[in-house]
Amino acid sequence: MPRLRMAVIGVGHLGKEHARILSSFSDVELIGVADVNLEQARMVAARCQTQAYGDFRRLIPLVDAVTIAVPTSLHHAVASEFLRRGISCMVEKPLAATLEEADELLAMAERTGAVLQVGHIERFNPVVLELERHRFQPKFIEGHRLGAFTGRSLDIGVVLDLMIHDLDLVTTLVGSPITSIQALGVSLVGPHEDLAHARLTFANGCLANLSASRVSPKASRRMRFYAPEGYVSIDFQQRKAVFVQPTEAARQFREEILARGLDPARLARLKEGLYGRYLQVREIDMQAVDQLTLELADFVRCVQTGSTPKVSGHQGRDAVALASRILDHIRRHAWDGNAFGAVGPEQLPAALGRFFDELPETGELAA
Ligand SMILES: NC(=O)c1ccc[n+]([C@@H]2O[C@H](COP(=O)([O-])OP(=O)(O)OC[C@H]3O[C@@H](n4cnc5c(N)ncnc54)[C@H](O)[C@@H]3O)[C@@H](O)[C@H]2O)c1
Repeated sequence: MPRLRMAVIGVGHLGKEHARILSSFSDVELIGVADVNLEQARMVAARCQTQAYGDFRRLIPLVDAVTIAVPTSLHHAVASEFLRRGISCMVEKPLAATLEEADELLAMAERTGAVLQVGHIERFNPVVLELERHRFQPKFIEGHRLGAFTGRSLDIGVVLDLMIHDLDLVTTLVGSPITSIQALGVSLVGPHEDLAHARLTFANGCLANLSASRVSPKASRRMRFYAPEGYVSIDFQQRKAVFVQPTEAARQFREEILARGLDPARLARLKEGLYGRYLQVREIDMQAVDQLTLELADFVRCVQTGSTPKVSGHQGRDAVALASRILDHIRRHAWDGNAFGAVGPEQLPAALGRFFDELPETGELAA
């Protein structure tokens, strides 16, 4: 099979990693990288032994497929130039900044037969892959995706920037329609929300509480699942996961208690054997896996074989649709319980006081 002729459009923080990985694939010929910051394009091109372009349109006649890692507000403008000509695209998450744009990209890919994949990288997380292999019915999910302020992706809010990862994960793993949404958000540094919380109820009774922040003093990316099959805790930051599963002895013990009550002797047995006899724990270390390599390899395979990507354009579009519903709720959230007071992410009720006197800035202290 001939090597796939590819390019990366936008080689900033993430796109330069796309270029590095694609240049190492034996079945890919990295034709070039494009960035409006030509100096950046040249630096990445030199490192990956390929050509640098300032205008991505010059790559259109040269490639079979591209990956796109420009700011989200430009995903539609850039991806549509390729998709409408039948050139396959791996578009970084979120697929687009609005649902209308996401729908248009999807329709273009369907019309031309181009492969459209979306960069929801957590789907290639080994723990998520492991969860997908099991019959598993999550009934309560808690997700925290708290990042430090990076100054990037300010063209969108934290729902489209970070929470979108968890929206895609929970909808994939729960596999049931969402029946109700509650959400609120706060804007601290710009025109979009920087902190957000959403509570999703699914038709099958599952409840998901998701929090996201991009102005957190401490980064933390965790998700916990409670299910009849057991409990799973994933630490995306530390790249570790814990699975806890009740044993057959636990099920029998519970029936015994329901029938005969929890007397002191049974309580002692429970305390002694809770972890071990009744609940068993398996820890998974994810250090060895590079998710971006798996994601890009999946895209290359799909373009070469015509198969559907693990994260299809449809799923990327559905994640944007859910994010849009959450954003609608955030914009309408009435902080005082009525629409006559503060409403939405850019307003909060006036503060009643201060927690403590203002501290001097670190710079002043150091001086
Ligand atoms: N999957 C993930 O976990 C993940 C992580 C980070 C970012 N992202 C996504 O990747 C995208 C890029 O994010 P980033 O953090 O790398 O941003 P970035 O600002 O570091 O990089 C964007 C690059 O695109 C270039 N660019 C802008 N307009 C262009 C154009 N018209 N043509 C070519 N290049 C152009 C910029 O000069 C810049 O170098 C965003 O959509 C973001 O949401 C995904």
